[in-house]
Amino acid sequence: MDHYITGATIRRLREGKGITQAQLADIIGVTAKAVSKWETAKGLPDITLIEPLAHALGVSVAELLSGNVVTNQNVSCNLLRSHFYVCPICGNILHATGRAAVTCCGITLPPLEAETADDRHALTLERVEDESFLTIAHPMTKEHFISFIAHVSMDRIQMVKFYPEGNAETRLSLRGGGYLYWYCNRHGLMKRKV
Ligand SMILES: [Fe+2]
Repeated sequence: MDHYITGATIRRLREGKGITQAQLADIIGVTAKAVSKWETAKGLPDITLIEPLAHALGVSVAELLSGNVVTNQNVSCNLLRSHFYVCPICGNILHATGRAAVTCCGITLPPLEAETADDRHALTLERVEDESFLTIAHPMTKEHFISFIAHVSMDRIQMVKFYPEGNAETRLSLRGGGYLYWYCNRHGLMKRKV
């Protein structure tokens, strides 16, 4: 975990709720002095206190740890604002329709920034009936491979997982326009408009 709760976050949330250090301490069963220490970066709350602390401050554990309080304005419904996250340790693939505090295997994952593919990761698109046949001519060894391809349009996401020793090819309906994303475990996320 490279992100733990900060004293500044605790103070901001506590003041936002209009309670004193003593009142917060009472709710979660610690001393006012302990809260004061956390807020002035002279100590950190034990992991067992994170959940009661989040509850007392009226936020989720994820919000408390990330320091970002999210108001659900349902602005993330447009899939074109998608973010992909890939865990470098276990290969887990996560998708979010908006900003998120994502952790896997104990580390915080940044949203991947997609690039235009170079020649070695180029995607070929061939029309087959009412679908498209997509091929990425790329090594598919255990050390270096294309992990997935996804088609994201305004209201739909399709993802196909690829495995080493297989071929990075699939058939998809690309109706609705949007973007294709594909991920190389060594070279990162690529993106192309459909
Ligand atoms: Fe690659």
